[in-house]
Amino acid sequence: DRLPELLRRMPKAELHIHIEGSLEPELMFEMARRNDVKLAYSSVDELRRAYDFNNLQSFLDIYYAGASVLQTEQDFYDMCWAYLERAHADRVLRAEIFFDPQTHTVRGVPMGAVIEGLHRACQDAQTQLGIDAELILCFLRHLSEQEALDTLEEALPWRDRFIGVGLDSSEVGHPPEKFARVFARCGELGLHRVAHAGEEGPPAYIWSALDVLKAERIDHGVQSSKDAKLMQRLAQQRTALTVCPLSNLKLCVFPQLAQHNIRQLLEAGLAVTVNSDDPAYFGGYLNTNFIEIFAATGMDAGHAYQLARNSFEASFADAATRQRDI
Ligand code: ADE
Ligand code: ZN
Repeated sequence: DRLPELLRRMPKAELHIHIEGSLEPELMFEMARRNDVKLAYSSVDELRRAYDFNNLQSFLDIYYAGASVLQTEQDFYDMCWAYLERAHADRVLRAEIFFDPQTHTVRGVPMGAVIEGLHRACQDAQTQLGIDAELILCFLRHLSEQEALDTLEEALPWRDRFIGVGLDSSEVGHPPEKFARVFARCGELGLHRVAHAGEEGPPAYIWSALDVLKAERIDHGVQSSKDAKLMQRLAQQRTALTVCPLSNLKLCVFPQLAQHNIRQLLEAGLAVTVNSDDPAYFGGYLNTNFIEIFAATGMDAGHAYQLARNSFEASFADAATRQRDI
């Protein structure tokens, strides 16, 4: 069977990767040591054994605790560079990378250390690996809109270092409309806008991400299959969904990969893409996501080509770059 080889070697864009979710336990322990931060686990193995989640919140609790080792600009550089080298091995040509500044600034880490460290890794990826990498600043939706507005202001000195904004963290109980004003402001600033919606939350959250936040892509969006009208709209507008199969499996959004609805969404004409979300926590980088979801759902080379093409078409790269990569 040559399908895994095709999946591994085809060029692709990754559009849904939280850089803090790429921090591998080994690097986390190394940073804990050099920054003198105490972790709740005594070894890499013990930490890995704690990666047993039953929903989004059970993951987020461990993910935010892990991020506490990140303190210096060099830490952000090292984490991001490790991801980019790994992405390069998976034939990622374009990466649009989420980061969660509030997770760090609340601990006293300067905004500049976060953004400059990540940005320098993206620049080095361009020159040393030929990867086109850009940053997307995410607001934490379990915090207030005022805190998001303050975070945006704090990041504006680095406005040219990120191409857009996103919305992540605990979904249910924090609908997109809570962030209407900050997203409107981001629109005025010419920033791209994306939002997590319909990961665990209802189709109504996808509607309001589109209509209130003016999201250009929906992160996850797998709950859209519960709403036929919404499916029609997403297909008709070709609004991309950044689907993350192994994440959905590990967070129990679907009981098994064979039950995942990605193939149904793709065949209904939605602009579906495959992504890794938090690869250090969910058991695989981009190619592993492709290989496992193809094996579980019986998708073929035609689906592979469509998913790869969708990833470039849904990216925020300029038209010339997108055309070259497709
Ligand atoms: N932050 C990191 N990964 C996330 C996910 N899958 N959903 C919401 N917030 C996140
Ligand atoms: Zn995500």
